[in-house]
Amino acid sequence: MCGIIGYIGKQSAGPVILEGLRRLEYRGYDSAGLCVSEGKGLNLVKRVGKIDNGLGPLVSSSPVQGRVGVGHTRWATHGAPSDQNAHPHLDQSGRVAVVHNGVIENHETLKGHLELEGCEFESETDSEILAKLIGLHYQKAAKQEKDEEHPLARAVSQALKEVIGTYGIAVVSADDPDTIVGARRGSPLIIGVGQDENFLVSDVTAAVAHTRQVVYLNDYDVVTLTADNFHVTNLGTQTAQRQISEIEFSPEAAELGDFPHYMLKEIFEQPRTVENAMRGRLDHDEVMPKMGGLNMTPAELRAVEHVVFVACGTSWHAALAGEYALEEFAHIPVTVEYASEFRYRNAPIEKGTLVVAITQSGETADTYAALREANRRGHKGLAVCNVVGSSIAREADGGIYLHAGPEIGVASTKAFTSQATVLSLLGLLMGRMRMLSVSRGMELMRALEQVPEQISKILEANDRIRSIALKYSQARHFFFIGRQYNFPTALEGALKLKEISYIHAEGYPAAEMKHGPIAMIDEATPTVVLIPSDSLYEKTFSNLKEIKARKGPIIAIASEGNDRLENEVDDVIYVPRSLEPMSPLLNVIPLQLLAYHIAVERGCDVDKPRNLAKSVTVE
Ligand code: G6P
Repeated sequence: MCGIIGYIGKQSAGPVILEGLRRLEYRGYDSAGLCVSEGKGLNLVKRVGKIDNGLGPLVSSSPVQGRVGVGHTRWATHGAPSDQNAHPHLDQSGRVAVVHNGVIENHETLKGHLELEGCEFESETDSEILAKLIGLHYQKAAKQEKDEEHPLARAVSQALKEVIGTYGIAVVSADDPDTIVGARRGSPLIIGVGQDENFLVSDVTAAVAHTRQVVYLNDYDVVTLTADNFHVTNLGTQTAQRQISEIEFSPEAAELGDFPHYMLKEIFEQPRTVENAMRGRLDHDEVMPKMGGLNMTPAELRAVEHVVFVACGTSWHAALAGEYALEEFAHIPVTVEYASEFRYRNAPIEKGTLVVAITQSGETADTYAALREANRRGHKGLAVCNVVGSSIAREADGGIYLHAGPEIGVASTKAFTSQATVLSLLGLLMGRMRMLSVSRGMELMRALEQVPEQISKILEANDRIRSIALKYSQARHFFFIGRQYNFPTALEGALKLKEISYIHAEGYPAAEMKHGPIAMIDEATPTVVLIPSDSLYEKTFSNLKEIKARKGPIIAIASEGNDRLENEVDDVIYVPRSLEPMSPLLNVIPLQLLAYHIAVERGCDVDKPRNLAKSVTVE
């Protein structure tokens, strides 16, 4: 949510920042801007709208000069998307520029103080207040006696001591063209360490084309960056030693390749990403998954009496699928919580509860806060996370990485299947430590291992799924229903469609339709019925008939070999047979493709759906 980048080095900063902003655009695309220090002054350009319609053409028509600068892509919080509200924001002198990701909660109080100091505001944003505040401290710092600390860094530190809220910021000054200062609290900020050039980014994808050496900053860190060095202090602990790490994915992993959209590319990556989630983690001899990163001894794992999953969005749906798996395999009671609710509710969590945060980005503010709340109450907190080095991954006591590679499409796809895979492994592990037999464990492991190939097979039906999608692309409402393991998948199918095509869609447990939603069914309202040939096939079939009796069109997602359905429903998409716990991994694939093709047909911007952002780092 909001992407920020700072660059200092040998290259012309404008094009480097613009390219970085394109890579960060999935974090927010309401507006974009950049500011480059030219030596004498600052060159600021910003424009409402996506980069290709706004900032991009503006920078091409009047290139900005200079080798140091900052840039920003915005997902609006305070103030509507507009040129004025776009970042960077300037201080009162017009010689300091700030980009900010986060929310300044005491912005009104600070604004009052700043107005008394003579500051005038051009935007409705909380971020401009930060710019003015840093500017005032900078003027004072310049007058103070010189000490070891850089005046801009000192000004940033002093300003931040007055701030309540979250921030990832990058600051440049016309009077210090050899420096960028950055700071973070609650919003990600990473140094990209290059050869005679350095970067400050909210996401490694913005720097990976230039360097794979990164430094993950901690909360309250303030960094002073020059072209050939960086120096980190911490507002709390004062001293700070930060290690350089290597990014594990290649720059190509974040490229579109031959695909028209990242979402489609990521859907097609799933045979490999699901395999990666299992790689090296299945011990056939012991019939036990191996997950070293959990940092828990077998005794600690055996002592777990209750699991709480905290998550948002698609990750919450994966958590629901995980609930079914953990309860079935390990007989451990599981509660799935919306992180945003959990963090403020006084939910009783008993002794022996393991809290697991499930998050693709590892930056979602609510999930982060929920994990911290659990820690504060003395519970161990694990993370199931994709982004290595992300805030949640580093804060957790242990966890499981997905190894799915960067997910750029705003609508999450491959993260869901990887999360569901990893949660099945966790269920298997905890199950085998309790009552799950060797034979059932082996059966589940074998079924899991077949999933990548089975997903490949479903993907071969892409053209057919597209033709079905075209048939229903003008529907105004959609239902998705399924039972047991297929209920979370139904929710996920509905979410995908809503997110990218703006069609109203709802997911329900199949049997719940008759308790209300069935009132919505008519000839123009299709229902996607997840109906594998499993233990509840006949029950789901009855629910399907109830909808058909009300003239609702039906798209069935059924098991290969089921020739009974062809005459009962309007369209059928077949998926390979597997064990029931594997159904979320298989049945979600046609739903992702259905949503994708419907959205494309409706002319929607699939990778940048309206009003959304990939990584939600504000509450
Ligand atoms: C945003 C994204 C969703 C994602 C959710 C949780 O809303 O648009 O696709 O599922 O955040 O993100 P996380 O990174 O925590 O999984």
